Amino acid sequence: QIACWAMIVAAYLLGSIPTGLLLGKLCGVDVRREGSGNIGATNLYRTVGRWVGVMTLAGDCLKGAVPVLLASRYCSPPECAAWVGLAAFSGHVFSLFLKFRGGKGVATALGVFLVLSPLAVVCALALFVGLMLVWRYVSLGSIMAAALMPLAVVFLGGGRDLFWVTLIISLVVIVKHHENIRRLVAGTENRFKA
Ligand code: G3P
Repeated sequence: QIACWAMIVAAYLLGSIPTGLLLGKLCGVDVRREGSGNIGATNLYRTVGRWVGVMTLAGDCLKGAVPVLLASRYCSPPECAAWVGLAAFSGHVFSLFLKFRGGKGVATALGVFLVLSPLAVVCALALFVGLMLVWRYVSLGSIMAAALMPLAVVFLGGGRDLFWVTLIISLVVIVKHHENIRRLVAGTENRFKA
């Protein structure tokens, strides 16, 4: 139990480290003032460069995956891992180091669910890739993949804690995309350029 609470705090702190903002600053760019203004991989890819975007994706994903992996190995009860995942995700979205602002949480959620429910990730990724191939909006793919996740977790028989954590993450991801949704409706959203 104590180990579980300690992991939740550690996961939140790790999640709070803004990978994209730091990598952007290393390249002389404050991504909060460029492109969509988001600190996530898509905006780094768009405004700084392909490899910095890929590194941001990897870093944000690891922030979610590593604490959940550790919790699932060393913490009890087993449900602890799901809440550790929510803590890492919350750190990214409501970062302690950015006055409780942050990113949209997609890459960190990806890392969390790769450990908690890899099969649900396969379903969500299939939808994401399909939508990307047709429309080339990362945001639309992220929103629809997030919406699918709670259903996929239920369908695949995840437990109650995992379902609630997935539902909360899904709703936060969708709400954090409110500006993207407005642009999608207005037809002004940025399309992904490889
Ligand atoms: O993960 C964020 C992505 O879905 C949208 O990013 O920069 O286009 O707002 P962006």
